[in-house]
Amino acid sequence: MLEVVSWIASAKVLYSFSGARLQWPLTSIQLENLTHTEGLSPFVVVGSADRLVGHFDLRVDERVAWLGRVAVKPEFQGRGLAIEVVNAALVQAQELGADAVRLRVIATNEPAIRTYLRAGFATGLPDPERPSVLLMERSLLR
Ligand SMILES: CC(C)(COP(=O)(O)OP(=O)(O)OC[C@H]1O[C@@H](n2cnc3c(N)ncnc32)[C@H](O)[C@@H]1OP(=O)(O)O)[C@@H](O)C(=O)NCCC(=O)NCCS
Repeated sequence: MLEVVSWIASAKVLYSFSGARLQWPLTSIQLENLTHTEGLSPFVVVGSADRLVGHFDLRVDERVAWLGRVAVKPEFQGRGLAIEVVNAALVQAQELGADAVRLRVIATNEPAIRTYLRAGFATGLPDPERPSVLLMERSLLR
C-alpha cells in the first residue's frame, strides 16, 4: 500500500483517484482504513518482473461491485495499461459473484472515462447528487 500512496502525487490526482473520500496528503493508514469498509477488497495488478503497475478496489453490495481507486503507476501511464487494470477488476468482480460493476468518475477525467468505455461500460450519467461526477455501469451477465 505504501507504494500506491507514492503514486498519488498531488491533491488533484487524489481527487481523481478517490473523490472526497480520502484526504490530502494520502497516507497508507487512510488506504488501510478503507479496507475496513464492509465488502471492500483492494487489489494490485502486477506486470513483468513482479512490478506493481496498477491498483483498484471493489466493494460488493447485493451483486453489484463498486469499482474504486483505479490507478496506473505514474511511470507506466500513457501506455494503454489502464484497460488491463479495469479488465482485471471485471474478472475479480465476477469471481466475487457480482452481476454488474458500477463506478463514479470525475466528469473531466478523460483517460479514465475512455478506458471505462473501452471496457464496455455504458456512457455515464451525471450523479444526481454531484453533477461533476459521472455514474457508469457495466453488466457482467452474458
Ligand atoms: C486514469 C488512469 C488509470 C489512466 O491510465 P493511463 O495509463 O494514463 O491511460 P492509458 O494510457 O491506458 O489510456 C487510456 C485512454 O485514455 C487516453 N489518454 C491517455 N492520456 C490521456 C490524456 N492525458 N488526455 C486524454 N486522453 C488520454 C488514451 O488514448 C486511452 O484512450 P483510448 O483507449 O480511447 O485509446 C491513470 O491516468 C491514473 O492512474 N490516474 C490517476 C488516478 C485516477 O484518475 N483514477 C481514475 C479513478 S475513476
